[in-house]
Amino acid sequence: TNEADTDFVLPQNRKWAEAIRDKWMNIGENGGIDAYPVISGEERKHQENKHDVYDKSQYHEKKKVGSFARATLEDMQLAVQTAKEDPDGWRELSQQQRQKVLMDVAEEFRKARGELIGIAAAEVGKVFSETDVEVSEAIDFLNFYPYSVEKLSSLEGISVTPKGVGVVISPWNFPIAIPVGGVAASLAAGNTVILKPAEDAMLCAYMLCQCFWRAGVSKNTLQYLPARGSEISKYVIPDENVDYVIFTGGEESAYKIIESRPDIALSAETGGKDATIVTAMADRDQALKNVVVSAFHNSGQKCSATSLLVLEKELYDDPTYKQAIKEAVESLETGSVWDFKNRIGALSNLPSGNLKKSLDYLDDTEEWLVQPKYADEQNPYMLKPAVRWGTKKGDFCHMHELFGPVLSVMCAENLKDAVNIVNSTGYGLTSGIETLDEREITYWKENIIAGNLYINRGTTGAIVLRQPFGGMRKSAIGSGKKAGGFNYVSQFMNIECNTRRS
Ligand code: SER
Repeated sequence: TNEADTDFVLPQNRKWAEAIRDKWMNIGENGGIDAYPVISGEERKHQENKHDVYDKSQYHEKKKVGSFARATLEDMQLAVQTAKEDPDGWRELSQQQRQKVLMDVAEEFRKARGELIGIAAAEVGKVFSETDVEVSEAIDFLNFYPYSVEKLSSLEGISVTPKGVGVVISPWNFPIAIPVGGVAASLAAGNTVILKPAEDAMLCAYMLCQCFWRAGVSKNTLQYLPARGSEISKYVIPDENVDYVIFTGGEESAYKIIESRPDIALSAETGGKDATIVTAMADRDQALKNVVVSAFHNSGQKCSATSLLVLEKELYDDPTYKQAIKEAVESLETGSVWDFKNRIGALSNLPSGNLKKSLDYLDDTEEWLVQPKYADEQNPYMLKPAVRWGTKKGDFCHMHELFGPVLSVMCAENLKDAVNIVNSTGYGLTSGIETLDEREITYWKENIIAGNLYINRGTTGAIVLRQPFGGMRKSAIGSGKKAGGFNYVSQFMNIECNTRRS
């Protein structure tokens, strides 16, 4: 059973949300959260190399959320050594014993839901409902992975042992669910694990580690290593005591991991250039709603986000539909996460790379249907949703992941052309179609190249076990098993098949 999300319509839940807001939007006034590396059983309270973290919604007022201290080279080496030695014997526990501890961790996440919503709002600029579903997903991972280890190990003729030491390198856009998923799968399979969170989500990661520690996973079994990605590639991954890496982020970083340790077992969930095709046979209003949510919730900072809207010509040429898209996007309230009317919060980091480029120029046939603008000119994190119209095959925004609130609209002659447009990006993570015609759905399913296919619904928000999540091609580097699916844990175990031919 999947964990239920909070229903924010209920008056008691709105009161609860208000109390979270009142505490967390002023958290710095009470000292805030100070995170230190937690290595070899203890907090390493370095006073040098500390970094302040500011509330993204109140950035212009420099409201502090807390700080984190970066790990030293010695911390990194000690972390791997401790994980290898496993002084508290996590690897020796039975599958049932580990499962029991992870059930207790799930309970800690239930209790910490409000605190996790508060820290993610402040640190990464996520609106409450978006973190709420992450906490549910984290609890699902904690329940599901031990169960899938149990299923795998009970197969006849199979014996499983932990791989050993795992390193989880997690992103900032899902600062709770993704690190918890990697850590939970690692622990369920009997490994010790080191969590290296993204720079923009160090405090969220520190808080989620506390849920594990409170429930009885020791600080030797799960270590918290706030460090730069470049340092991890240089000092941690090359260590031959590291047995595998779970990575979520850009494909260039995944290739760097392989470069620094070609023999490493790597499970990487990388980028996407995800599209929703809307054909002339679609329920047009439903399509519009699904696309707007998939493209812009969490400011489009999801590898699963719809970044291309491919309209069949009849719809593309319909001025009423064009106007409806414009109005729907302009109606999205963007602003401080502490004001509950806003559906879109702050960016987690300032526009750079592909996103910045997409804001600054248009290809020759493109125009802005909705111009990029800031909701608050004082705050560079408050970027409103924008829509490019008339993107052509091969244009920059057709081929590149932007990871922000910019949607590109393209025209397709027919469904076959639309599928070609989508398949030519080289990615293959999520893909959506909006049509009420069964024959179109069948054609699309048979021809589209993507890991997660969504029909007449949004392209984001996969649910553990029901929609295991992961892609193909440039979207999945390494072993690429789907998160939340039955064989995900198999990547972190040695599996021996003991049956012999007679
Ligand atoms: N699992 C997330 C989604 O489906 C992406 O990481 O949106």
